[in-house]
Amino acid sequence: MRFGYFDNLQDPTQKRDYSDLIAEMRERALLCEAAGMEIFWLPEHHFSIWGRELLPNPLMMAADLAARTHRIRLGLGAAIIGFWHPHRLAEDLALLDHLSGGRLEIGVGRGNYGLEASNLNPLADPNKPAMNLKVFLETLGVLRKALSEERFSYKGEIYQFPAPGFKADKAHTVNDPAYVDPETGELAKLTIYPRPKQRPLPPMWQMVSEAHDAIRGAAALDMGVVMWRPSLNEIKLRARVYKEAHDAAFGRNIPLGAKIAVVRDTFVDDSDAEARRIAEEACMGALNFANWRGPQIYLDPGESLSAESEASLKKRLSYEFVAPRSLFFGAADTVADSIVRLAKKTGIEHLIFKCGWPGLAHEETMRCLRRLSEEVLPRVRERLQAQRDVFGTAAE
Ligand SMILES: Cc1cc2nc3c(=O)[nH]c(=O)nc-3n(C[C@H](O)[C@H](O)[C@H](O)COP(=O)(O)O)c2cc1C
Repeated sequence: MRFGYFDNLQDPTQKRDYSDLIAEMRERALLCEAAGMEIFWLPEHHFSIWGRELLPNPLMMAADLAARTHRIRLGLGAAIIGFWHPHRLAEDLALLDHLSGGRLEIGVGRGNYGLEASNLNPLADPNKPAMNLKVFLETLGVLRKALSEERFSYKGEIYQFPAPGFKADKAHTVNDPAYVDPETGELAKLTIYPRPKQRPLPPMWQMVSEAHDAIRGAAALDMGVVMWRPSLNEIKLRARVYKEAHDAAFGRNIPLGAKIAVVRDTFVDDSDAEARRIAEEACMGALNFANWRGPQIYLDPGESLSAESEASLKKRLSYEFVAPRSLFFGAADTVADSIVRLAKKTGIEHLIFKCGWPGLAHEETMRCLRRLSEEVLPRVRERLQAQRDVFGTAAE
């Protein structure tokens, strides 16, 4: 199991200097690198009038972090690709891959918020799912071709590249046979510059929620999936859906849990009670802010809630409901146990910690990251190694 960290920029007071928020993120990234984490993930959000999600461009931030770190990989979690022109995104990603010395992991998402889409690209509005999906898939199609093929063309309903009818650019005719259709004399292929450093293209991931179709779609393109919050049994089910789709598409038998990443809200302190005392309010505030999906996202497959609990949890999620299903909160031993259990039960490839939420001081997150690094991960690695020595695999 590889470990990573999911970061965000936030300031619910809306009063702090943005440069200070960036400086704190840099400290977290450096600490994650020192802790031996493998990927530092960055989100994309716009117009957050709530002060909760304040990073508009994960690529620029990743470029900054690439210049300050040496080993840790930089994940986009996610680039909301329907908000980007696919060529600009492909070029910037390829450039970022070089700037980071080949440390880029490309995560893509369909977006969450109408506020963002309607003011960036209304066609990509997640409240109109059919068109949002079409924009997502076409942008992804162009992006993957542009990154992986030396010369590419794309023809969809939204995008067609090269643009048809192009024969000459001012004084310069296009006469390279590698790019021109010999029959029409029109430009028939494009190349982006630079091409990515990692070939054929950097590792790709799709952020997925409950829909199994999205998991199958990512598997069919050999992209990993990143999910957050599901219960352990639900992760297992989704890992199976992924494996079946991937095996069918590529005729291979990948291990259960391969190419699956999960984000877990995590807080480590001296004792279980202290972890809860310090971080419950901020974490539950964030989960309740995102509770428009409803409490069902925390349930096991086949589990249901009484009408009364459902109504109450829709209004306000409680710590008692969420913690056993989805949180890694507690003393180092408690959290280590939870991680080992997740690893053994699901075999997931990548676990991503999230230890910061609006309202929790940066210093508390740093304290938690130090404990993770010094007290939790060494125990986990030791226990998973022991399991591998006996059974040949970390998963049950
Ligand atoms: C781990 C994770 C990170 C995400 N990060 C972002 C983000 O940075 N910005 C955003 O608008 N949506 C983000 N999303 C939401 C996705 O863009 C997408 O809307 C959602 O996962 C829909 O999944 P589906 O295609 O399975 O329905 C994230 C989702 C997950 C699971």
